[in-house]
Order: sequence, then structure tokens, then C-alpha cells
Amino acid sequence: MGARFMGWGIGLPERIVTNDELSETLPTSDQWIQERTGIKERRIGGTVANLGAIAGRAAIEDAGLEAKDIDFLILATSAADRITPATSAMIAHEIGLSCPAMDVNAACSGFMYAVRTAYGLLETGNKRVLVVGAEVLSRFVDWNDRTMAVLLADGAGATVLEYDPTENDILSFSLGTDGSNAELLTCEHEGFFWMNGPEVFRNAVRVVVDSAEKALTMAGITSDDLSLVIPHQANIRIIQAACQRLNIEMDRAVISLDHYGNTSSASIPLAFDDARKSDRIHKGDYALLTGFGAGMTWASAVVRWSR
Ligand code: ACO
Repeated sequence: MGARFMGWGIGLPERIVTNDELSETLPTSDQWIQERTGIKERRIGGTVANLGAIAGRAAIEDAGLEAKDIDFLILATSAADRITPATSAMIAHEIGLSCPAMDVNAACSGFMYAVRTAYGLLETGNKRVLVVGAEVLSRFVDWNDRTMAVLLADGAGATVLEYDPTENDILSFSLGTDGSNAELLTCEHEGFFWMNGPEVFRNAVRVVVDSAEKALTMAGITSDDLSLVIPHQANIRIIQAACQRLNIEMDRAVISLDHYGNTSSASIPLAFDDARKSDRIHKGDYALLTGFGAGMTWASAVVRWSR
């Protein structure tokens, strides 16, 4: 069984909000935000359906395919436009898909959970699955709460995964959930995101390192073999701490949070897009894709690009 990443796409709001702009209304500063998070600016605006459809359409086009070629759509989001219907139905409609479509919510691990689900669908008869990660987290930010307001942002990314009997891009997965840590990061109905930042930080490093080590072992490689790490973009210091424990120098990590902030389930495909645009994706190279988020959830995968 093989699954190949055939195309990628992104969707972003036009509005850029800088740290200085946030500092005009919040007791914070560009210096504090950059030093503690690595974020310089972020995109704000749009709807999950709209951004997700832009990213999804771009991924289909990048794969050289048409909407009719997709036989399943999975949207990873923790900020669905409505409780029901699922936002994936709106995206399917905007793109012109009539295949099955569903939402997956695993917070910032959502994109990797959706990729894992897509892999299972390909194993059981589907040919091409469109995976979209899309978030409009700004809708659920209390703009008077400096802790969350400086972190969260909006955006979307997508990929098309295709069944291939001869080639395989995804060598291993390691996913998990620990509901005993559910209260560390929450957003109630009609409420706002809230988190215990230092505890999320501590647990994030632990689960990323643990799941990455498991995925590397399952793939039969070590961290030395990795050309690239594409981590969830929550905080530069979390990425630095995890990479240090995994013996991966930071020049092998893709960082896009400086200009996109934390876009939850969109952050890994957005980071992939940056890596590709700067010519860091090469055939035959190993990469680690790793995410963590509310739940707590986590998900790592080792891939080897086949094109
Ligand atoms: N500007 C200025 N000061 C601030 C800000 C801000 N935006 N936010 C907090 N502070 C203050 C605090 O009030 C505190 O002040 P005090 O010492 O007077 O009490 C001080 O800065 C230090 O606060 P800490 O919370 O200890 O700061 P820390 O270095 O831990 O950084 C942060 C906070 C950035 C939130 C960090 O803990 C973090 O990144 N945590 C993980 C975030 C994350 O990964 N979230 C998961 C994904 S989000 C999702 O799933 C949707």
C-alpha cells in the first residue's frame, strides 16, 4: 500500500496584523511577542469555508487534477464556521465536489489526524483524498486577552493524497490523545480560547519528542537521517526545545510562525508551502511532520518525498 502527496495549496486572508498593531490596544510589545513566541505578524479574516476552499482548489490544481477526481474530503478544523452543517460540506460545494466530506477536530494536531484518516481511506478503496486544514481562530479570540491574542491566527492549507500501489510517501505514524490534560486549553461554545500557557508548553515538548521518536523508530531511521522537520507552528521556543531533545539542528526545522502566527490545523501545510517555495523539498528526502494541540492530542509522521 502506498499513499503519495500529489499537490498542495494554501489560502490566506489578505489582512496582515503586526505585533505593533496589537500593542496599540493590548498591554504587550513587539519585543515581548517576538522573544517569547517568535511571531512577528499574522493574517486575520475570512471564513473557514472560504479559506479552506481556496486552499483545496489550489491543491487539486497543483496535483494536475479536477474536482471530479477527488473521492473524499476531510477538513481538519477547530473553528468550524457553524456547529452544523459541517464546514467540509461548504468547502465541497465551493470546490464542486460531490464526494463524501467530513470535519475532523483534533485541534492543532488536526491536519495530521486528517492525513492519518486519509491514509486509512486509501487503504480501503478510495483513490484520492483531499485533506484541508483551515482555521479562523480570530473569531474565538478575546481581543482583550493578550495571552491568546498574540498567538492565534487564520489561514488554510491543503494536500491531495493519492493511492499508489508502487510508491509510498508516508512511512510511519504515531498519534495519541491524553484527555486528562483537556482543561489545559479550551474554548467553550460562544466563548474564547483559554490556556494554561506554561503547562501546554511543557506537555507539548514532551509529546512531540515522544511521538517523533516512535515515528522515527517505526520508519527505521534516526533523526540524523531527517532533512527537514515540519512542526506545528505554535511557538518558536517549543520547536527549539523539541528539536534540541531530538538532536535536530534548527536549520532543519521549517519556521513560518514568524509571518503566520499559530494557525492550528493549517500550520503544517502552510509551513510545507514555505519549504517548497524556498526549494527545501527534494525527492528521496526524509521529513518529520509533527503536531500537538488541545485535548491534548499529538501526531507525528515520517515521510519520504517521492517527487
Ligand atoms: N505580552 C506581554 N506580557 C505577557 C503577554 C503578552 N502577550 N502574555 C503574558 N505576559 C506576561 C504574563 O502575564 C507574565 O507576567 P508576570 O510575570 O508579571 O506574571 C509574564 O508575561 C510571563 O508569562 P508566562 O505565561 O510565564 O510566559 P511564557 O514565557 O510561558 O510565554 C506563552 C507565554 C507564549 C503563552 C507560552 O507559554 C506558550 O507559548 N505556551 C504554549 C502555547 C501553545 O503552544 N499553545 C498551543 C496551541 S494553541 C491551540 O491549540 C489553538
